[in-house]
Amino acid sequence: MKLITLEVPLAGRSYEVWIGEGARHELARLLPTARKAAVVTQPGIGYAVDPGVEHRVFHIGEGEGAKTLSTIESLCRGFSRWGLSRADCVVAVGGGMVTDVGGFAAAVYHRGIPVVHVATTLLAQIDAAIGGKTGVNLPEGKNLVGAYWQPSLVICDTETLQSLPPRLYASGLGELAKYHWLGGGDLDHLTVEEQVARCVEIKAAVVAADEREIGRRVALNYGHTLGHALETAGSYDLLHGEAVGIGLVFAAELAYRLGRIDADEVAEHRRVVSGYGLPTRLPPGLGDDELTALLARDKKALEGVTFVLDGPDGVEPVTGVPGELIEASLEAVRE
Ligand code: GLY
Repeated sequence: MKLITLEVPLAGRSYEVWIGEGARHELARLLPTARKAAVVTQPGIGYAVDPGVEHRVFHIGEGEGAKTLSTIESLCRGFSRWGLSRADCVVAVGGGMVTDVGGFAAAVYHRGIPVVHVATTLLAQIDAAIGGKTGVNLPEGKNLVGAYWQPSLVICDTETLQSLPPRLYASGLGELAKYHWLGGGDLDHLTVEEQVARCVEIKAAVVAADEREIGRRVALNYGHTLGHALETAGSYDLLHGEAVGIGLVFAAELAYRLGRIDADEVAEHRRVVSGYGLPTRLPPGLGDDELTALLARDKKALEGVTFVLDGPDGVEPVTGVPGELIEASLEAVRE
């Protein structure tokens, strides 16, 4: 089995990312020293991993509805009843929801114990499992409570992508498309292992430069400003990848209207996003007022929204965008 190994370089807390088909079978060999391991996963994931030390499986629920503080409490109480200590670790096996929740439980249990991510979805492998963002939702919003808690090791088993339901796979494709403008260039001709590795390499460099998102890391949210708003709209049932795809094209239209990129670059956004089978236009029936409300409180507040846009200096945050340009760009991504 040929695996790719990369490093997320963080002073004193660097960790390796192992990528390849069947990589999960290397867990026992790679696990950092631990007396025992709490394996956090979901019943539907269905991958029994062997950490090579005494372990117990802790199941969490599926979907955003289970990404709550009460899930963290249940996990931590289960860890405690089992006698998990600071000499032990958490192994999170699954997609982004599992790595977010398992990572956050590890961050707060005994004020922080090591966590290893075994990422089984494209979204987790190229985004969620890398970079230490962990957390849960509140009724008031997504990911409102969390911690930066870097894993000790990440395993991206590309074999698990082969049996991923198409909708779950597509959820990660928006992120893949995003990396085209973060230094990835044309990723669509690469093997899936090479795609994952290239994205991890880019994300590792960004995280190493700006772990706490006070600067450059915000570029990782490219396509997400409108994307998140569209996901929140809910009733349109858009996948994360689909919402980010539309968000990328919208961001290109906006950057074009601000004179930051040319028309060829906008066309390139449409080509790359549609090349991954993702939509480039808003779902039909989404009204102007609903869209404005999704991005800001009202039309006036729209101008206060920070967008992440491509431009001569690369992808960066841009504020103070005139409302009429935002509205014209939304119009350009209409059906
Ligand atoms: N998903 C964006 C980040 O990790 O910063």
